[in-house]
Amino acid sequence: MRGRTDRQLGADFYDRMHSEIAPSVTRTRYDGLFRKIVENIRGRGSRSVLEVGCGSGFLAKMILQEYGCAYRGFDFSAEAVRNAGSRTGRPDLFFVGDALDSRSYAGDYDTIVCTEVLEHVDLDLEVIQRWRDGSWCICSVPNFDYAGHVRFFNRNEEVMARYRGAIDIEEVVKIPRPIVPDRRISTYLRNLRWSRNNPSEFLGFLGIQTFSRLGGWFLFFGAKGNGGKSGW
Ligand SMILES: C[S@@+](CC[C@H](N)C(=O)[O-])C[C@H]1O[C@@H](n2cnc3c(N)ncnc32)[C@H](O)[C@@H]1O
Repeated sequence: MRGRTDRQLGADFYDRMHSEIAPSVTRTRYDGLFRKIVENIRGRGSRSVLEVGCGSGFLAKMILQEYGCAYRGFDFSAEAVRNAGSRTGRPDLFFVGDALDSRSYAGDYDTIVCTEVLEHVDLDLEVIQRWRDGSWCICSVPNFDYAGHVRFFNRNEEVMARYRGAIDIEEVVKIPRPIVPDRRISTYLRNLRWSRNNPSEFLGFLGIQTFSRLGGWFLFFGAKGNGGKSGW
């Protein structure tokens, strides 16, 4: 459950990462994951979402367009916050803040969304500690290593073991990364050709155990530890 990077990176690293995302990008490999999150928020009837580590605003845009509850998001990368503001056309909804700083959680929210952030923070459990008791929490963590990851997970049980003390987890769902993020047949055929000498990857691209062969995310949700009663 340890990433190769093994070291938490600062906001300057993420500033560089977000500065490379073109404003014209509309589709990402996370879209399937984000759609499930919007479904969860809708099913739950969330009234106000606070997104922790909102990045360049791709999920924020989907929430605002497809569900439309009150929303605010923060990130410790000023570049991410700028991108999110221009991507959604709502710079007023975003602010620069650290997930470990209690002041980032001032104001109303009944739902916390935190995707692909906890694995970047050494003190991830202390981040969750700062979330309001009873708030509905929707989080995701990856099953693969990447720059900035201080840990990743292989099995649902590992995710449960790390986070169930902080969140009354109702379910952990595996979301495989999309086989063809841009939905082009030419990309699909190219991936198959390039992976022909790697049987595991090849099978992953054929849709066989894609989650374990090509990577994916564990999506988990539940109320912030107060014995399972959400309080709203
Ligand atoms: C892999 S990106 C995920 C972005 C977005 N949540 C998504 O799913 O597209 C990780 C994000 O976490 C942010 N981040 C990392 N540590 C943070 C911290 N301590 N406080 C606030 N944001 C943080 C980074 O700046 C980056 O935008």
